[in-house]
Formats: sequence, C-alpha cells, structure tokens
Amino acid sequence: MGALAAGAMLFPWLTACTPEKQKDAAGGKARLGIIGTGSRGRFHLANLLEDDLVQVVAICDDYRPHLDEAAAMCPGARLYSDYHALLEDSEVDGVVICTPLSMHSQMTIDSFAAGKHVFCEKALAWSVQQLTDMYSAWKASGKVLMVGQQRLYDPKYVKAMELVAGGAIGQVVGIRNYWYRNNDWRRPVDDPSQERRINWRLYQQYSRGLMAELACHQLQNGSWAMGGLRPDYVSGTGSIMFYKDGREVFDNVAAIYQYPNGVHMTFDSIIANKHFAMGEQILGSEGTIDLVRGVMYSEQPRRRAGLRQMLEQIEQGILSNAAFAGSSWVTEAPGTDKGIRFVDNVSVVDGASSVGFSGDGSVELMHAYALAVITGVQPAEIVEEACWSTLLALLGDEATRTASRIDIPKDLFE
Ligand SMILES: NC(=O)c1ccc[n+]([C@@H]2O[C@H](COP(=O)([O-])OP(=O)(O)OC[C@H]3O[C@@H](n4cnc5c(N)ncnc54)[C@H](O)[C@@H]3O)[C@@H](O)[C@H]2O)c1
Repeated sequence: MGALAAGAMLFPWLTACTPEKQKDAAGGKARLGIIGTGSRGRFHLANLLEDDLVQVVAICDDYRPHLDEAAAMCPGARLYSDYHALLEDSEVDGVVICTPLSMHSQMTIDSFAAGKHVFCEKALAWSVQQLTDMYSAWKASGKVLMVGQQRLYDPKYVKAMELVAGGAIGQVVGIRNYWYRNNDWRRPVDDPSQERRINWRLYQQYSRGLMAELACHQLQNGSWAMGGLRPDYVSGTGSIMFYKDGREVFDNVAAIYQYPNGVHMTFDSIIANKHFAMGEQILGSEGTIDLVRGVMYSEQPRRRAGLRQMLEQIEQGILSNAAFAGSSWVTEAPGTDKGIRFVDNVSVVDGASSVGFSGDGSVELMHAYALAVITGVQPAEIVEEACWSTLLALLGDEATRTASRIDIPKDLFE
C-alpha cells in the first residue's frame, strides 16, 4: 500500500491508501456481506479473510452449492439465499457484489437504499440506462462505491502510468489492447436446468460478452494513459465464428475507439487461438510501455540511461516532467531494445484463460474498500473511472453487434 500511496499525487483514487487513511482506520473493522459466492465471490472471500481490517459477517447466494462452498470457508458468517434479507442485516456495513452483470445495477441501488456501502464487480452494468441509474443512486446515497477495476490499484499499472504521465514515452500516440484465449468460456453443468445460471456469460440476457468481461479492464488503460481524455466514438465488428454451440455472445470482436486528438485505442479478442495471449501496450512517440509484462522500451535504445534515471526518480517520489528530446526513428522491423523492467516479480501465465502476476491489484483494491468503509471516505474519481470503462465496454459491444460506429456521450457522469 505504501507504493500505491506514492501514486496518490497523480491518481486521486489512491488517496484511499495513504498512511493517514490507514491510521484513521486502525483498530476498525469493515463488516462485509458478500452477494454472489461463485468464482469471483469466493476469490474475494479468500482474500478478505486474510485482511485484518475485514470481518465477513454474511454471505448470500441463491444457488445452494455455491453458498455451501463459501460457508465452508467462513463458518462464522450468516447465510442468506435472498440478498434483500442480507441487506436488512444491521451488522453489515458494506456489501461485495459478485453476481452476473445483469444484476449489478439493481443490487447496488437496493444496497444504497438499505444504507450499505458497495463494492461491485466490473463491468458495472448491463446497459447504459442501468449504469446512469447506478451513478445517480450512488450520488444521492452519501455512501462509498468501489468497483472491481483492479488495475487502478495494481502497483505495476500505477508505476507504468506514472511513467506515462512523467513523459517517459513522449506523447501517447496509440493504445493497443488484445486478449486471446483458446477456451470456449463454458463451465460444466451437471443439471441442464442450471445451464443459463452457470453459463450466464454466454447469454445476452445477462451478459455483454467479451466487451464487458474482458475489454472493460483493458479499456481502463486508455482513459488512464490519455489523462482522462475520452473517445468521441467507437467502431466495431464481431461474430460467432468457431463455438457454434447455442451461445449468443461473440467469440471474436474488434473495436476501435477514436479520441478527439486523433489517437485511437484498439481492443481485439479471439477465444479460439491463444498464441499471443494478452497484450496491453501504451505507444508513445519516444517509447512503449508493455503493461502486462512491466517493461518499458525506448524508440532509441541508447537513451536507456535517461529512462533508468526517470525510473529512479519515480522510486524516490521525484517525478520529472522532462520528455526526452530529439526525433524518433521509424522502422518496419520490430524494435531491438531489450527494454527496462520497471517492476519485479511479474509472472505471465501461459494459460488458456488469464495472465497471472504475483498480484493483480485485487487485494489492494479490496483493502482500499475496507479502509473506505471504516472511514466512510469515498476514494475520489474511481467511480467516474469505472463508469467510463463500463460505458466504453457497453458501447463497444453495441458497435461490434451492429458493425457500426457509435458516438460516445461525454456528459453522463458529472
Ligand atoms: N475483476 C475481475 O478480474 C473479475 C474476474 C472474474 C469475474 N469478475 C466479475 O464478477 C462477476 C461474477 O463473475 P463470476 O465468474 O464469479 O460468476 P459466477 O457465475 O461464478 O458467480 C455468480 C454467482 O452469483 C450467484 N447469483 C446469481 N443470481 C443471484 C441472486 N439473485 N442472489 C444471489 N446470488 C446470485 C450465482 O449463483 C453465482 O454463484 C461478473 O460481473 C464478472 O465480470 C470480475
């Protein structure tokens, strides 16, 4: 958390992690209830049980096998099958919502109405209307809202974005995101009547497909690297070209977001080939940052000493705004620079589904939520950042489904 607090100078949501906030919360407990104890709910539960600031007092799932699995992890928690009943539990200060996308909005709004703080998984909402309803309910509530965009609390991404903001790669000229898997995205279902519950991601009634489930994370990089500049429009395409198994969401999509300054951001995803796995790259006029692997490359490798100096300055909390001088050269062969690793302990999993690190920000994010529940202080700008990621994902989904260009409204979260 110390490393994150240093980034609070630039990124307001990290003020939630400063030593002062930690001091304010010392001795306190965030009494939390988890709604939805499937895969992500149990992942958070395991981490929350390790956090000294947290007491998991209640868990809820309307699918008994998942509730039982979570109950075995925290025998002291009260069990609910109806989330309304959990919201009436006066010992619950805040909830952690990990249900299918289509349920996030109503559950969040009901939680605020019951006087609870809310952590809601990404994407925030299934539709733009649901998203703006959530945003209005949060504004009126006076409660904390945190969202599962864990890159915002991932020390590796924070450091990378400090480098971008400090001019280490010159002017940002492009943002490239891709996420490839070779995995049908299906979960095994013992009882056919549970198909849509277990495989909700594959059905439009609950899901917005790859754009909401995967792109939502990577589109965050664009908002962040562009210093809050928002794109004007998105164009897209997609199809079901390989897994013709009754699913309703695409197994491949591509979307391009156009910014007012002429820069564009891409998201490309295919789930029937995993060779190139995952990539998140900020392209600058003077260098490139590979966010996933924690490496920065120079367009002119001889400038490594300068890049190293900037890294050291950031480590010491002294940010230089000096961009590197001189013109960059262009080649049609890939760059030869071996790059500078700006974080240690990054391990990339060569798996079908995900990239794993020594940490991906999830633990830090949930700790920041616990701090916010105890202090009652909302970390600044995280809601707007998260709303933008969801908005870009939803409109990207619309663009890919209609193979069209969709204008992006700029005034929804003011
Ligand atoms: N931030 C991340 O990296 C990340 C990673 C994985 C999933 N997620 C998000 O977490 C959310 C959940 O994903 P998942 O993979 O855990 O799904 P899941 O299907 O494994 O779990 C969802 C759970 O919600 C329960 N549920 C459904 N309706 C309910 C209701 N009315 N009341 C109570 N419980 C109900 C289901 O029974 C299930 O146990 C999704 O929004 C997903 O995008 C985020």
